[in-house]
Amino acid sequence: MQPLIITLDGPAGSGKSTVARLLAQRLGLEFLDTGAMYRAITAYCLDRGIDPKNKPAVAQAAQSCRLRFDWREDPPVLQVNDQPMVQRLRDADVTASVSDVAANGPVRLVLVESQRQIGLEHPRLVTEGRDQGSVVFPKAQVKFYLDATPRERARRRALQLRQEGRAADEEEILQLIIVRDQKDSTRADSPLTCPADAVRVDTSNLGIQEVVALLEKMVTQRLDGPQTTDPHGAGKATGQARQ
Ligand code: DC
Repeated sequence: MQPLIITLDGPAGSGKSTVARLLAQRLGLEFLDTGAMYRAITAYCLDRGIDPKNKPAVAQAAQSCRLRFDWREDPPVLQVNDQPMVQRLRDADVTASVSDVAANGPVRLVLVESQRQIGLEHPRLVTEGRDQGSVVFPKAQVKFYLDATPRERARRRALQLRQEGRAADEEEILQLIIVRDQKDSTRADSPLTCPADAVRVDTSNLGIQEVVALLEKMVTQRLDGPQTTDPHGAGKATGQARQ
């Protein structure tokens, strides 16, 4: 089987995670949630009394703890030093601090390297985050950038939290989303951006299934065209998606 990397980037609440997971299932690919990795480092620090704003201490934590996914699960379960971490990743204190951790250059170095390694070990992958098409897998065969209005994204996050049995105040979530967008898109290191060769999809007025069907169709069209053989290698990527 040929390697096939599909990247989905975009802001919080754009539907990336759900869409990426469903798209991976439809196409028979594996699924990587890179936000979970930044959240895991954040949770790890908070649980050990390390201030997420203390850059050297957080960098040290990221370099010393072992992150790996259990790929037997669907979606793969992230483990920190062999301890599964699922619920904790979505806790409010983790969400509030994760942008600080994601803006920490040495942390990004560790996680980008780890994501590229995952891409080598799991070469048929749908990967989602903020920098997957721009930095981690610049030669991915198909790149998407999902977006939606901040209001719609807040509505979705609130719904998701309520479905998990958690309290959710939509106005508060909206304010947090605006702050997090601002931090993610203005940070010096790998800011959130739509790669020039990505297909931008506004999901504000689309249901999840509609988005997945649209993306699946675009991937299929793309793969019917001329292909690049190796998304990790130095070869020229010819099968790039266009806006
Ligand atoms: O997608 P998410 O909400 O789980 O992401 C959590 C945080 O991590 C968010 O502030 C953006 C950041 N992030 C990042 O900087 N790069 C990635 N590849 C994934 C997430």
